[in-house]
Amino acid sequence: MPGLGDATRGRLLFGGDYNPEQWPEETWHEDVRLMKAARVNSVTLGAFSWSKLEPEPGAREFGWLDTLMDLMHEHGVGVVLATPTSSPPPWLGRLHPDTLPVTEDGRTEWWGGRQHFSHSSPTYRRFAAAITEDLAARYGGHPALTMWHINNEYCTVDHGDQAAAAFRRWLRARYGTLDALDEAWGTAFWGQGYDTWDGILPPRLPHYLRNPAQVLDFRRFTSDMLLECYTAERDIVRRHSPHVPVTTNFMPLWSGVDAWRWAEEEDVVSVDLYPDPRDPLGAQHGALVQDMTRSQARGPWMLMEQAAGPVNWRGVNHPKPRGLNRLWSLQAVARGADAVCYFQWRQSRQGAEKFHSGMVSHAGEEGRTFQEVKRLGADLERIAPAVTGRPVPARVAVLHDWHAWWAGDQDGRPSRRVNHPEVLSAWHRALWQAHLTADFAHPEHDLTPYALVAVPQLYALTDAAVGNLLAFVGQGGTLVCGFLTGVADQDDRVRPGGMDARLRELFGIRTLHEWWPLEAGETVDCEGFRGTLWSEELEGDGTADATVPYRGGELDGLPAVLRKGRAWYVSTLPEPGPLRDLLASVARDAGVRPVLDGLPEQVEAVRRGELLFVLNHGREPVTVDVPGTHHDLLTGTDVTGRVTLGRYGAAVLRP
Ligand code: GAL
Repeated sequence: MPGLGDATRGRLLFGGDYNPEQWPEETWHEDVRLMKAARVNSVTLGAFSWSKLEPEPGAREFGWLDTLMDLMHEHGVGVVLATPTSSPPPWLGRLHPDTLPVTEDGRTEWWGGRQHFSHSSPTYRRFAAAITEDLAARYGGHPALTMWHINNEYCTVDHGDQAAAAFRRWLRARYGTLDALDEAWGTAFWGQGYDTWDGILPPRLPHYLRNPAQVLDFRRFTSDMLLECYTAERDIVRRHSPHVPVTTNFMPLWSGVDAWRWAEEEDVVSVDLYPDPRDPLGAQHGALVQDMTRSQARGPWMLMEQAAGPVNWRGVNHPKPRGLNRLWSLQAVARGADAVCYFQWRQSRQGAEKFHSGMVSHAGEEGRTFQEVKRLGADLERIAPAVTGRPVPARVAVLHDWHAWWAGDQDGRPSRRVNHPEVLSAWHRALWQAHLTADFAHPEHDLTPYALVAVPQLYALTDAAVGNLLAFVGQGGTLVCGFLTGVADQDDRVRPGGMDARLRELFGIRTLHEWWPLEAGETVDCEGFRGTLWSEELEGDGTADATVPYRGGELDGLPAVLRKGRAWYVSTLPEPGPLRDLLASVARDAGVRPVLDGLPEQVEAVRRGELLFVLNHGREPVTVDVPGTHHDLLTGTDVTGRVTLGRYGAAVLRP
């Protein structure tokens, strides 16, 4: 299978989505001049070009794309060619309304925006396959082609009749009999037993709470249907160009698709990442998404999209202050990216995203945005030979699973305030602030490469996953587990006792009496720290080696944290500082060291291959102790003992 290396060939890919069909041909020539100036070596073409390529059913207009593919090749810019299937032409919906998705309350999503396709519609799939086939036949051997990009940010949900039929087929394949389905869905509750497969629907708008197992399966189904759309197009392009890697761009921590499963079907894992420049935790959000994407890729990955300046889809859209674009781009490279790309090359003058930045903003060549892009292009070229293809070592893994998220994130729970990505992010932030580099892993993955495994929260765990955690601890690994973990099985059936019995034994818990969720702003005192969001009335079984008790209130004296051997259970969400300190100390006991000791708070350090990236997320200059002598690849100078970084400054140090 080809990989990202086949596209990068020792370079870091640098460029972005290019939508030349929005511009007259003179601008294309201006574009290549500016691309060269900025050392852009990669563009994504065609992501939204379906109506341009097929202006009426069955027509093919490839001339403009021929010209652009040749132009890019002539100027040494590789093309990531997208299949245009995320935005069908208006005629498809008009002539074939069965291609349009339907919401849970029966509304049709019409053309006029984008992503108005039903993943389950055979008609949509037929037209998508046909245009993909012709695109692949025409350009599969083109010398500019470096990668295939299938669709764009798969995310549609469909509750319509096409989806209902496909959902029934999917359920039949999963359960075989209605009895097995009734059992898995617990339809004895509220008398929901089915007499025929035809009676089963997507979870359309009900009067009151939905069946949670039905919702869980519908989410699985939706992810699988979208994946079928992806693999169908992937297989077509592969047939025409087996040596060209294939990707589709994920949205970060997007609940709609099981990215672990999807990543297995990709040659290159790519992601779109848009932290808010005003968010004090923007860099941490970036680090989380980068760690997650690297883990899905099991190696180098592609930053498919980021913004050179403001986006246009927040309530208030802030530009990136001087230096931040470069810093966050280098952060992505530090955390394993071999491609740094943007949405989009040239800022649009029309359409819904005309106020979304581009690498070339409305201010043009002289604008600060482009000038900074140019500088970044030069920086990336400088560090590329030492960095591409290199691994990011991590001895900590954070576990995450979409199915646990889908099962846990539903109505009718003890607390609506518990939000899976927020808990995940709080734990990752604690590790990030402790300067511990973490991978992410699925609970059934091989955990043996890690010394420490952190489970912020996995509400539902399969038997295999529980077995995997036990085996990990049995083999000498350290496990630290957050609240509301191991509550349900794969069908969202609550485990006897409210928590898996093997996990209770692992942590030294005899009885989980009650959950005590906390209101917004409410905290619970524990010895040495305060907990937020959640607390638990636990009774130990006397086998724990150490406990930290709750203090005061209803839970006074009961264990808030238990440690039994190398297994830790944390029954609340400690405030950020204490959570950081707790995980840092658990890591220390597990023999895991921070990347550098004594780092100031605003500085991030990451190792990649033999390189050490030091990144200043603060606006004030900072001096960092770095033992030994290093060569800074960005400045070309040697540094001994310490390095000084300016506002949003970075150093890429080689020993
Ligand atoms: C991405 C999308 C791009 C563009 C961008 C704007 O989600 O793939 O096409 O819309 O957002 O931030």
